[in-house]
Parts: sequence; C-alpha cells; structure tokens
Amino acid sequence: MSDNSRTAIVTGGAKGIGAAIVRKLSASGTSVAIIDLDEEAARTLADQVPGAFALIADVGDHKALGEAIEAACAQLNGLDVLINNAGWDHVQRFTDTEPSLWDKLIHINLKGVFNATHLAIPQLIARGGGRIVNVASDAGRVGSSGEAVYAACKGGTIAFTKSIARETARHGITVNCVCPGPTDTPLLDEIKRDERAKATMDAIVRATPNRRLAQPEEIAEAVAFFAAAPAHVTGQVLSVSGGLTMAG
Ligand SMILES: NC(=O)c1ccc[n+]([C@@H]2O[C@H](COP(=O)([O-])OP(=O)(O)OC[C@H]3O[C@@H](n4cnc5c(N)ncnc54)[C@H](O)[C@@H]3O)[C@@H](O)[C@H]2O)c1
Repeated sequence: MSDNSRTAIVTGGAKGIGAAIVRKLSASGTSVAIIDLDEEAARTLADQVPGAFALIADVGDHKALGEAIEAACAQLNGLDVLINNAGWDHVQRFTDTEPSLWDKLIHINLKGVFNATHLAIPQLIARGGGRIVNVASDAGRVGSSGEAVYAACKGGTIAFTKSIARETARHGITVNCVCPGPTDTPLLDEIKRDERAKATMDAIVRATPNRRLAQPEEIAEAVAFFAAAPAHVTGQVLSVSGGLTMAG
C-alpha cells in the first residue's frame, strides 16, 4: 500500500485536529475526502490541500453519511483509511444538563463513530483491508468534571475500537484509538468561553508535565502512525497529553 495510491476519509476534517490530520495525510501523498458539517471551512481547506475534496454530511445521520461515504469512495476509487475524528462537547455539571444535550452528544460523538465505521467496513474489505483510527479523548480514559456524557461517549468509543478490532482483524483491518489531552483548537476556544471551564483548563495545563496544550499537528502525527502501522498493531489506545495521563 504505497502512500501515493492511498485514500482516506477524515470526518470532522474541516477544522482543528481533523484539519491537521487532512494536511498530514495529504503531505504523505494520500488522497483525502473531508466529511464535515461546516461547508465553508471544509471547502476552504480542500482548496488548499493537494488531493483533498469536501463532502457535507452529519456523521450522526446514517443515511446522509452513507451517501457521502459512497460519493467519497467513488471519487477516491476505493477506501484504505477511515479517521473517525468528528466530535463536539459542551461543558456543564451533569446534574444541570437536560436529556436533549445528552442526545446531541451521543448523536455526534458515539453514533457518528458507529455510523462511519458501519458504512466504511464493506469498502475497506473490498479493498482487501485497511485502517480505522478513532479520535476519542482522555476524558474517556480517566473521566472529566463537566463532561460526564461526553466522557461516556469517548469511553464507549474506546471499547468500540477494541471490539471492532477483534471483529475485523481477519479482513486485514486494524482499528486503533488516539486520545488527545487538551488541544489548542476551535472546540477548546468554545469551551473556554465558560469561566469555570477556563479555570479548570488552566489548572489542567499547570498539572501537565509539558505545561502546555497539545497542538493539533501533534495529535495528527499519532493518527498518521496508526493509519500506516503494521497489521499486528490493533485494538490499541494511545494518549497524546504531554504526560498528563500515562499508560497503566
Ligand atoms: N480539542 C481538544 O482539547 C480535544 C481533546 C480531546 C479530544 N478531542 C476530540 O478530537 C476531535 C476533534 O476535536 P477538535 O478539538 O478538533 O474540534 P473542532 O470543533 O475544532 O473540530 C471538529 C470538527 O468536527 C465537525 N463536526 C462537528 N459535528 C459534526 C457532525 N455532526 N458531522 C460532521 N462533522 C461534525 C466540526 O464542524 C469541525 O470541523 C473530536 O472528536 C474531539 O472530541 C478534542
């Protein structure tokens, strides 16, 4: 599988970590379909990145995502790599939240991963194997105040990664998971508008051995590693958090 003929889908690829993944994969010669809800950002990035193009769909909508993945695979002429990166968060103490917020968090962060994986696996099998990389969060490994349902979705994504890795190994598909710690992206800017969330984030940075946020490009490096790793590397979870969280 030479990089120059490799193809990938990156969900939520328009901004933040996803955009860094799109740039990283493209730099190694991979043709990339960006699937995102933000049409303007997705199209602007696709115009800047060689071999990239944009499709607009909500990852939580199985039908709309199915049409986008079908169009992507037709344009790419087959699929080698799926990066499940799209995500969303809203920081609020659990007892203050309403079920409508839980539904939105689950729709994007958990069902989005189920949908894309379900739709992409037949395409990867048709290609003779491939790579799936899920972007979860350290919130899913160690928990996070104000992010209970988001953390549950990310913990679910970690468990889903391991189960799908077991189911698809015989097809030559690996499934691995990257857990970013706090990373300098538009999502974090949004979270930091809340004063309490900003104070928590500042405390987290002080507790991080590297004493800073991650840059999106650092997360993209780890994703790109799994996207090209040997077939025996599967079902693994890698934190990229400046030492804030360490493997057990
Ligand atoms: N930034 C952090 O500190 C951090 C930490 C841990 C994990 N993460 C995870 O990393 C991933 C990327 O986060 P980010 O910080 O780059 O976020 P971001 O908000 O900067 O970018 C997310 C992208 O996903 C897209 N998106 C959101 N909902 C979508 C949907 N329903 N369908 C399609 N696209 C959708 C957005 O339009 C955006 O382009 C997410 O899964 C997030 O949970 C981020």
